[in-house]
Amino acid sequence: MDWKNKVVLITGSSIGIGRELAAQLLDKGACVVLNARNASRLSQTLQAFQEQGYQGIAAVPGDVSNPADCARLVEAAQQHFGRLDVVVNNAGISAEGDVGELSPEVFRKVTEVNYLGSVYVTQQSLPHLRESRGTVFFVSSIAAFRGIPGHAVYSASKVALKTLSEALRVEEEQHGVHVGIAFVGFTENDPQKAIYDKDGVLIPQPSRDFVKQEPVGVVAARIIRMIERREARRIFTLLGKLNGFANRFMPVVAGRILRRSYHQRKEMG
Ligand SMILES: NC(=O)c1ccc[n+]([C@@H]2O[C@H](COP(=O)([O-])OP(=O)(O)OC[C@H]3O[C@@H](n4cnc5c(N)ncnc54)[C@H](OP(=O)(O)O)[C@@H]3O)[C@@H](O)[C@H]2O)c1
Repeated sequence: MDWKNKVVLITGSSIGIGRELAAQLLDKGACVVLNARNASRLSQTLQAFQEQGYQGIAAVPGDVSNPADCARLVEAAQQHFGRLDVVVNNAGISAEGDVGELSPEVFRKVTEVNYLGSVYVTQQSLPHLRESRGTVFFVSSIAAFRGIPGHAVYSASKVALKTLSEALRVEEEQHGVHVGIAFVGFTENDPQKAIYDKDGVLIPQPSRDFVKQEPVGVVAARIIRMIERREARRIFTLLGKLNGFANRFMPVVAGRILRRSYHQRKEMG
């Protein structure tokens, strides 16, 4: 696939996986529309790319959980570059806390950003993607295979992307739009990454040193390869593949492992 003159919109691309995706795509010659809520951090990212000599970039601040912002975002891609070839629904937020203790506001916010945010951006983009016979891509997680105790709201939002993409794939076949989804495993986090605590306060992502994490560059390169090959779905990391296999073929064993790790984490506080 020749990325030159292709226009890619990546939600949540000021840091983390989204930023790395943008960097690799710019390097391949694509034009990229960056997005995030925090306008000053987004413009720092834009400036950093421009200082590296990249030119086909636009940065559009906005919240994907706001349908009007999503309409503006897609419109901006058209205005800047006159077309839209790929949309990566990457913006996401995580939350820690048991179902019984999480504030309803956290349930609402995570669902609105991770699930509805992807719905709104996708709906706005479809007319343009049909024209370009392009791609809509969803960044899900290996947490979608089974509800993770202590992370139920995140798991639920990511499994919703799975069912959304399955239905959309069939619906859009006739229009030539490729629908892809990646079940991403543990990835090295940006130092600025934040998650919600049970009360909806943003806190730094707790350390995940107990598990092997994939470099962000490897994750971004895999997503790009999937788009190039128009792949439907892929599970990332060995742990992710084992997790997918166990939940499908040995659900009782998978449930026991999760239960044990949940109680161990509780004991450690
Ligand atoms: N990191 C992992 O281990 C891992 C594993 C599996 C799946 N994933 C998924 O991969 C995606 C990226 O994760 P990441 O670790 O790279 O995240 P991250 O480092 O926390 O970055 C998230 C990006 O999304 C933006 N964002 C958050 N809420 C937004 C909203 N409402 N509207 C627009 N932009 C928003 C953030 O900027 P602002 O805060 O300024 O908006 C930031 O640019 C997420 O969907 C995540 O669930 C990550």
